[in-house]
Amino acid sequence: MPTLIYHGHACFEIHAKDGNLIIDPFLSGNPVAKAKPGDIACDAVLLTHGHGDHLGDTVEIAQKNNAVVVCTYELALFLGTKGVTTHAMHIGGGHQFPFGHVKLTPAAHGGLIEGADGKFTTHPCGLLVTVEGKKVYHAGDTGLICEMELLGKHHEITVALLPIGDNYTMGPQDAFEAAKMINPQIVVPMHYDTFELLKQDAQKFKERIEDETLARCTILLPGDKLEF
Ligand code: NI
Ligand code: MN
Repeated sequence: MPTLIYHGHACFEIHAKDGNLIIDPFLSGNPVAKAKPGDIACDAVLLTHGHGDHLGDTVEIAQKNNAVVVCTYELALFLGTKGVTTHAMHIGGGHQFPFGHVKLTPAAHGGLIEGADGKFTTHPCGLLVTVEGKKVYHAGDTGLICEMELLGKHHEITVALLPIGDNYTMGPQDAFEAAKMINPQIVVPMHYDTFELLKQDAQKFKERIEDETLARCTILLPGDKLEF
């Protein structure tokens, strides 16, 4: 059974039989994370976009683990200049890696790549990760988009990781609408309570999801694990 580990904000590890991966490894600058970059052992780093609270400790973790960084082409170009191994993809594309399958999905957000010279931007994305036959959808930073309807129609999603922090991403109301479109077995709220601006009542969100959809909602605190 694969295991999901939450590190706060939008950072999750997935440990599965064919390998371990980490998504959006924002640890050293993350006020709620308990793990440090040096604690992470992984085969791959998956990124939704280049904002600092997602790119985070990518370079350090990828170098230490000799892990491949899977991300959009433009972000891969930038990371290639930092001495890490990358696998460039783009939205709508999927690829089978030794650790599992990854497909990039659309997200409606900004794409500035933090730390790049002559600042440049690219499309942000979501991630559909398949391990051991189970599908995890990490929405990335996004507003509510109708493409989520297609995800629900074409995929049986086990776990949907949905931002609820509002301000920069969906808030609880739109994340609830997203959950209805995606129709996953389990909803895990993310991208909230990291900073004062992103404070949300996750318990209230959970109750609404469980009262009004078929999904279960699991609130994870930094360091918590979920087998799925
Ligand atoms: Ni962002
Ligand atoms: Mn963010």
